[in-house]
Amino acid sequence: MGYQFVDKGGTFHLKNAEENRYLYLPLANRAGVMNSITPDGHGDSKLSQDEFLLEPVSSENLHESTGSRNFWCKVKGYGAWSATGNSAMQAMQRLTGQKEDSELTGGQLWQETRRTWKENGLSATVKNFCPVTEDKVEIMSVTLKNCGEATLEITPTVAIPIFARGADHIRDHRHVTSLLNRMEVTKDGVVVTPSMAFDERGHHYNYRSYGIYARGEDETGILGAFPLLEEFTGEAGSLLWPEAVICDRRNERQQTENMVFPGECREGYEAMGALRFPDLTLAPGEAYRYMILLSYDGEGKEYLEAGKADAAFEEMCRYWQRQKTVSVSTGDERFNGWMEWVGLQPFLRRIYGCSFLPHHDYGRGGRGWRDLWQDCLALILMNPDDVREDLVNFFAGVRADGTNATIIGSKAGEFKADRNNIVRVWMDHGYWPFFTVELYLKQTGDFQFLLEENTYFKDQITHRGEKNDSLYSQKDGTVLKTEKGEEYYGTVLEHLLIQQITQFYDVGEHNHMRLRGADWNDALDMAKDRGESVAFTAAYSGSMKGLSGLLDTMEKQGITHVKVAKELETLLYADESIYESAKKKQETLSLYCSSCGHALSGEKLEISVGELSDIVSGMSQWIQKHIRRTEFVEDETGNGWFNGYYDNNGRKVEGLINGQVRMMLTSQVFTILSGTATDEQIEKISRCADLYLYEKRMGGYRLNTNFREVKLDLGRMFGFAYGHKENGAVFCHMAVMYAYALYERGFAQEGYKVLNSLFEQCMDFEVSRIYPGVPEYFNEKGRGMYSYLTGAASWLVLTVLTQMYGVKGREGNLHLRPQLLKEQFNGQGEAAITCSFAGRTVEIIYCNTNKKEIGDYDITEIYINGKLYQNPEEKNTIARAVIRKMPEKTEIKIKVVLD
Ligand code: G1P
Repeated sequence: MGYQFVDKGGTFHLKNAEENRYLYLPLANRAGVMNSITPDGHGDSKLSQDEFLLEPVSSENLHESTGSRNFWCKVKGYGAWSATGNSAMQAMQRLTGQKEDSELTGGQLWQETRRTWKENGLSATVKNFCPVTEDKVEIMSVTLKNCGEATLEITPTVAIPIFARGADHIRDHRHVTSLLNRMEVTKDGVVVTPSMAFDERGHHYNYRSYGIYARGEDETGILGAFPLLEEFTGEAGSLLWPEAVICDRRNERQQTENMVFPGECREGYEAMGALRFPDLTLAPGEAYRYMILLSYDGEGKEYLEAGKADAAFEEMCRYWQRQKTVSVSTGDERFNGWMEWVGLQPFLRRIYGCSFLPHHDYGRGGRGWRDLWQDCLALILMNPDDVREDLVNFFAGVRADGTNATIIGSKAGEFKADRNNIVRVWMDHGYWPFFTVELYLKQTGDFQFLLEENTYFKDQITHRGEKNDSLYSQKDGTVLKTEKGEEYYGTVLEHLLIQQITQFYDVGEHNHMRLRGADWNDALDMAKDRGESVAFTAAYSGSMKGLSGLLDTMEKQGITHVKVAKELETLLYADESIYESAKKKQETLSLYCSSCGHALSGEKLEISVGELSDIVSGMSQWIQKHIRRTEFVEDETGNGWFNGYYDNNGRKVEGLINGQVRMMLTSQVFTILSGTATDEQIEKISRCADLYLYEKRMGGYRLNTNFREVKLDLGRMFGFAYGHKENGAVFCHMAVMYAYALYERGFAQEGYKVLNSLFEQCMDFEVSRIYPGVPEYFNEKGRGMYSYLTGAASWLVLTVLTQMYGVKGREGNLHLRPQLLKEQFNGQGEAAITCSFAGRTVEIIYCNTNKKEIGDYDITEIYINGKLYQNPEEKNTIARAVIRKMPEKTEIKIKVVLD
């Protein structure tokens, strides 16, 4: 059981794929088509929340719904059969041991299925993909072949229901909106153009049309269509056994009852893209092909010609192969193939956001703040120049009080406070921009970036979500102004500074940062008054240390002074007596928030970069000292871990509580990553993680132990069944960050164990039941959940490249610090990775001919395209200029000898 990779680009084969309930592949393109498809043609198609061609599905009705991309063959003497395996008869056969053989080929982003009707040898090959053009269309090709011994007489019918409206109408006014449908049967299909877009806040004219078109290979057009769903299924039939196909009652002119002919229209019912072709006779060995389109606004009609569709397919394959962050070559072909999919995932989230695949049935599009920044990590690794402008633009979402707009639309400068207009502040949000910018600077050395300027976000919310600006009105727009009414601009550096420093002062009673609406864990959302996140306080100590490092580099590069908003003076204190007092911190913050609540003075303060660096680094050190001193908890054996939270009753959340071990992974990740945990503490933590969180059958390290309590004073996660999603699942994003943190601190064996457990779980198809790629989490049964659209992917790419393979940017130069284990090298002792660096494609091949273990090997020699390279200035580092000198578009081979 399970799939096998069949090439180096991640293409795989899977037998009887339709027997897995939740499998789906994404099909998308740059025109904005966002589709999903199951092995038997289920799944939906949309351009946005308001424009669905196929009925919206979430994970449960994905397979249960009877509507799908179907293609019926009624064969004289045999009855009816679905070329996609989606008929009542085939469903029954699957459960009664009479199933037909089928095989799916899954590629990036296409699928092909092949099945054969046992009784008569009719075989069908069905391929689906979206061309990578500006055409809003999905192409489906169905090839029928007679692999039997007798001639077959076939009546072919395409059968795809057309939803033609917004997702909200799946329940809200479903029937009423069907009255808006206008169906036209044309010579090659059914087009639905609703008369208006239904929206009780203001109905408006609808410009969009939704169509199913089809043509036979020799230009054969359709005979007619069944544009009404109820007439296609009949009163007693269903989409799994439709009357128009099964009974096919014909009049004296041999015309099927209810068939509508080209040129005719219908109005006001649920629409159906059922297209009837003339009967087809196939002699043994003969084949015939139909091209079908799921199209918006009639786009992409040229693909009804098979030749054009085939060319578009080739182009699409090349396109997605180019959208790769990394490609690895280890001794394990499975890992190499799997990474091809992980590397594609960040692009998928860029297209689908967090809303538009079957498990991601929430939100209405747009991207969340922290996801936006983290998705950029992988994109930066691939082409930082492409991302630079986006990064600067995103900063316009930061408020002067350090909080930010949370939803970002697809256009630059489109920000919203929240998708549901609930005032909520996520206290981790200031951390991710820094992490992303730091990676950008490491990869490029482009420190000028920090001096780019942008505006700040403004709405009625002030004081970090606690107060309202009574002077603000919506017509003032979303840009912060100065007292003179001019738009205020500050540098990227200033934005980052404000985000980190306001956090430093925003503490609760234990002098850790307040949890507020939640932190990274969205489900810790019920402790906004007294809750504190020690986990993210530690994280910020890391970003502050990092920021101080960036300032030091700026100073080295000759930038000695910078200008910041004068209001910041209130916060730029290196005074331990304030640091030690939660109360004084809150007062200081409140003072600052009041000074920037409505407008800024517009005055700037010039400050020495060195001084700024000292202040920020001092804050970071203070935090780390404080956490080390107060938050390390122990079990009975003397092993320990960090407490990462205080609940809404001000109580410590982790530790040995009433004899029960309570441990959360997030708290360990950020204390390790930030350098708060000492090496000795990491050893203890890792032992405890193995003891209390590790669950082999679920893919590794759970997010937390079982609290056995619905903790209403901390968050909704405790309402989830244990072992699911944020309550104790193996949550890949955090698990990968755990690996990253361990590698970062030099704990390679431990880091590898985390990643390898996740990988093996993914590959254990019988249990995980997912296509290749990393899912959001593994549940209690070990099943992979929420495929593709997870921040885990960006982090995995980052971890594999910069930690496992140790290919890192360092102020724009290429630094190598491999942390590969002996077992990861192939038979020749080699392990390679291909990535982008400084605008060139670089393959780095580590040669560990003597098969040494990590810790025993060092880099002894580096060869660039066969020539020995030495850099006396910085060990194991290749100067950017050397790479830039190489001709563009050629792959640079860097051989690194380990001994
Ligand atoms: C999802 C969200 C992410 C959030 C996480 C935990 O993770 O997208 O913002 O931090 O749940 O609540 P993802 O699916 O990206 O792994």
